[in-house]
Amino acid sequence: MDRLIVTGGTRLCGRLPAAGSKNEVLPLMAAAMLASEPLVIRNVPDLRDVRTMLSILQRLGVEVDLAGDVLTLQASDHGPVEAPYDLVSTMRASVCVLGPLVARRGAARVSMPGGCVFGVRPVDLHVKGLNALGAGIEVEGGYLVAGPDRHLRGADVYLGSRFGSSVLATAQVLSAAVLAEGTTRIENAAMEPEITRLAQCLQQMGARIEGVGGHRLVVHGVEQLGGADVTVGADRIEAGTFLVGAAMTGGDVTVENVRPHELMALSEVLRSMGAEIVEGDDSIRCRADGRLESADVTTLPYPGFPTDLQAQLMAAMCTARGISLVTERIFPDRFMHVAELLRLGARIRKEGSQAIVHGTERLSGATVMASDLRASAALVLAGLVADGETEIRRVYHIDRGYSRIDERLGLLGATIRRETQPKLDPQPADW
Ligand code: UD1
Repeated sequence: MDRLIVTGGTRLCGRLPAAGSKNEVLPLMAAAMLASEPLVIRNVPDLRDVRTMLSILQRLGVEVDLAGDVLTLQASDHGPVEAPYDLVSTMRASVCVLGPLVARRGAARVSMPGGCVFGVRPVDLHVKGLNALGAGIEVEGGYLVAGPDRHLRGADVYLGSRFGSSVLATAQVLSAAVLAEGTTRIENAAMEPEITRLAQCLQQMGARIEGVGGHRLVVHGVEQLGGADVTVGADRIEAGTFLVGAAMTGGDVTVENVRPHELMALSEVLRSMGAEIVEGDDSIRCRADGRLESADVTTLPYPGFPTDLQAQLMAAMCTARGISLVTERIFPDRFMHVAELLRLGARIRKEGSQAIVHGTERLSGATVMASDLRASAALVLAGLVADGETEIRRVYHIDRGYSRIDERLGLLGATIRRETQPKLDPQPADW
């Protein structure tokens, strides 16, 4: 079981290219199940979640070839339809194989995603959307079960919860509707860039989709899909994590190969906190000098401030001047990092779905537990500005979504090392 040890006090400086996006590549991989020809995916990030998804696809009879960062997936009409608990429970995005399975093979048996650490994360919208298309999904023994011989037909589907649109439910229903007979209208579709890229990949495979990038997707089903060759775009959350790190350490970091407009909400906040942000055509530079100012941030669906950067920004607020306010509108319980930041000497009060952060001049290193993927990144960032050493345990969370974060931060000047310790912790929980 690995742990990271961060020595505080260094500024992050330098340039680095963003890695391929985790949240983009996972639904793309699931979509390979729809195609009768190979799907080639380039710039695949080296992540634990990608390896988990590969295992699931292999169990479903997909031929997999990973050469460097180029992944080739070849699915067929037939094969097993069960995605088992031991794999699906470690990663919520794996539930995305459900729609493609029912659409292509007429049947599916996919474990419900496992319990998660910051509140209930239901799949009711996934089920509602697919059932509107005729999937007939029922829950049996912890599995989402459909078929055999389901034939999907287009329908009007509203995909909204009280927290707004759902990213993976949109991916799910879209990926099924492309092979459904007739026309499907998805209202309140998520507008996250990862959904746009999925839709563009499906279009390259021969799908007929209108309204890509908007809140209403109109899908005219086709009988079969061919192959495609796509390149995964930059991980805006990984890029944002490095930019926050630059701002809070008084550093100077340029992240390359990004689409700056996808990070505008973060850029605005960092500017308001006193950092200088320079957006190039495909790069963002963040430079800061001295203490940041406080900020008020509310997480919202794209293009609002991403919930996946909330914890990292809170780490920056801990040493900013004044009182900051964080309101979590996507996952009201996503505050597991607060208790760990308190161990480093942060002054944070949680009130329902809000956290009030009183900036202090210094944090002090301690041993902390990573609780979920993005919360772990926040602890690493906090360690960069804490006196002495911060030991972050349960690093498997961070390895799910950040490729070699210790090496990448090291390139920017961070003093951070990875140590392997005997297995003491329980099994990883789902994020
Ligand atoms: C995706 C991202 C995750 C990000 C989140 C919000 C991936 C692999 N994961 O997760 O990193 O934090 O979007 O941007 O892309 N909801 C329901 N019923 C459902 C589905 C969702 O009520 O069936 C609720 C959720 O509990 C949450 C809100 O809708 O309150 C948005 O969640 P959703 O967009 O679905 O998150 P994910 O797609 O799981």
